[in-house]
Amino acid sequence: MAIRELKPDIHAIGAIDWDRRLFDELIPLPDGTTYNAYLIRGSEKTALIDTVDPTKEHELFDNIKKLRVEKIDYVIPNHAEQDHSGTIPKILEQYPDAKAVTNSKCKSMLIDHLLIPEKRFAEVNDRDTISLGNRTLEFIIAPWVHWPETMLTYLREDKILFPCDLFGSHLARSDLYAVDEAKVYESAKRYYAEIMMPFRNNIKKHMEKLKQYDIEMIAPSHGPIHNKPEFILNAYAEWISDDVKNEVVIPYVSMHGSTDKMVGYFVDALMRRNIATKPFNLTKTDIGELAMSLVDTATIVIATPTVLVGPHPAAVYATYLANALRPKTKFASVIGSYGWGGKMLETITGMLGNLKVELLSPVIVKGHPKKQDFASLEKLAEEILAKHKEIGIIQPEGG
Ligand code: FEO
Repeated sequence: MAIRELKPDIHAIGAIDWDRRLFDELIPLPDGTTYNAYLIRGSEKTALIDTVDPTKEHELFDNIKKLRVEKIDYVIPNHAEQDHSGTIPKILEQYPDAKAVTNSKCKSMLIDHLLIPEKRFAEVNDRDTISLGNRTLEFIIAPWVHWPETMLTYLREDKILFPCDLFGSHLARSDLYAVDEAKVYESAKRYYAEIMMPFRNNIKKHMEKLKQYDIEMIAPSHGPIHNKPEFILNAYAEWISDDVKNEVVIPYVSMHGSTDKMVGYFVDALMRRNIATKPFNLTKTDIGELAMSLVDTATIVIATPTVLVGPHPAAVYATYLANALRPKTKFASVIGSYGWGGKMLETITGMLGNLKVELLSPVIVKGHPKKQDFASLEKLAEEILAKHKEIGIIQPEGG
């Protein structure tokens, strides 16, 4: 990646990974990603904030060379995950006097994961600072975004927050800043859904703490930089709030068409009631899009046939993910079909333990759905309408 200047002597020197299509062997990356690293030169000392994924270390070193960096005094790991920390051992090797400055938890994780010797660390606590001469770095300990050791670094004089993963997006772009706000909003929401959503309550606390800081720029370690921080702060405020939308998300799979017919009918029944709905065919869907849809939906309805006495494995996978991502969803139900018996319903509902949802009437059908089954789907749609009214996301008629 070309070196870009944020301010005099503050440069983005990381890498763009245009072609990466999977993260953690799990998360689809339709738009690639970036590993942002920032070099800050003070009048006396030089600091490097985060590094890059080891697959891109040559790009980081090329940039360091181009900037003729003779000395790095501090490398600051805000987070121990290898897409940011993986090149720290090489940096420490290249700069034998450099110290890795981080909190005790991150230090211990970097010793475990990257075998960095303990003597190469300088440990910091919440609100500690280090001086670069004319510039000061302040460390804000912010655990669980999304690992237990995460911290944020604030550059006081320039009012720049370096939050690593937080406020980031998997978005490879040549733009340094978030100029295409619609695209960045979508990518950041997807990123929040996949990475941050299970830690919503921790992020709430950290965002409260950040109100004490005067922030003019947010420079995350994935995706474009926010030179209008209110854009991403407002988006996060919306996502971490308890507010949900008048919407039903339906992850579904069908083997011989019965569940498919039920989903088709049910989608129409919701639409007739002005409830927004999104069916996700699990044999085709991108799980990132499903995760994104769970950020603010009021209701999730899982639809599956019965196979080998339980739910279809694709529905099990989606249910497992929904449960692990802990969205703020308020209501859930199950619809689907069976041929001769099984425990599909019990298996699905038993997998939703992390969700604080009220379970609504399931509709489970033997074989092809019949008149009375469609009537049950109407009833479920009506029940959802009533529940959405009850929590105030649909105004009562005349209201
Ligand atoms: Fe981008 Fe949690 O690493």
